[in-house]
Amino acid sequence: MFQSVKICPSILSADFTRLGQEVDTVVNAGAGFIHIDVMDGHFVPNLTMGVPVVKQLRQRGNVPLDVHLMIDNPLEQLPWFLDAGCDMISVHAETLDLDGLCRAVQIMHEGGVLAAVAIKPATPTSVLKPVIKELDMVLVMSVEPGFSGQSYIEGTDAKVAEVVRMSNAAGCSPLIQVDGGIGKTTAPLVCAEGADLLVCGNAVFAQPDPAASLKAIQEVGEAARLEALNL
Ligand code: DX5
Ligand code: ZN
Repeated sequence: MFQSVKICPSILSADFTRLGQEVDTVVNAGAGFIHIDVMDGHFVPNLTMGVPVVKQLRQRGNVPLDVHLMIDNPLEQLPWFLDAGCDMISVHAETLDLDGLCRAVQIMHEGGVLAAVAIKPATPTSVLKPVIKELDMVLVMSVEPGFSGQSYIEGTDAKVAEVVRMSNAAGCSPLIQVDGGIGKTTAPLVCAEGADLLVCGNAVFAQPDPAASLKAIQEVGEAARLEALNL
């Protein structure tokens, strides 16, 4: 568990013509990580960005980069992203068998990044059980991966609670990130159940004042978390 709820703005909703400034704005506003949605047109219908974007953002300095791989072949691509210089990578559980999942986690750790596994809305949390102790983070998708600007799928908060229970039972405490349709209304739902990191695309970058929006979401998320913890 993080000391406080952190927002991970997804640059998929940013203005690509001024990406550097967009990233600076949210980093200065207190973003936990910059979330980079890598889509291959196979695992998900959409095609977005890849290694060159990670490399160039890395060159801007110490911006913490969180790469969400929505691709069919993460084992082949992981070395490229490690080389590009990110801080955390999520691979999707649906793209790998158990051996592959263990291998991916090992590759990420050997590459010196935080290792995360993402699950789609229809994927049960039970797939995480064999690897949960090795994970730095679990990414619970709250929309079908592929596009920003979708609505939060109700019931995702219950899945966050399941991950917390599974982690407690296993004696570990990976961070929990929720991704999709998160804004001021939905952040409290998932934070009350134990979410640490909130990916926000439209709710930050598509707003007139991204910094203020980020802070407002973080504030309501943190308040819900403290209330749930009775603090
Ligand atoms: C969807 C992506 C998300 C998306 C979030 O597949 O993984 O990170 O960009 O965007 P919003 O917050 O607009 O749902
Ligand atoms: Zn994402």
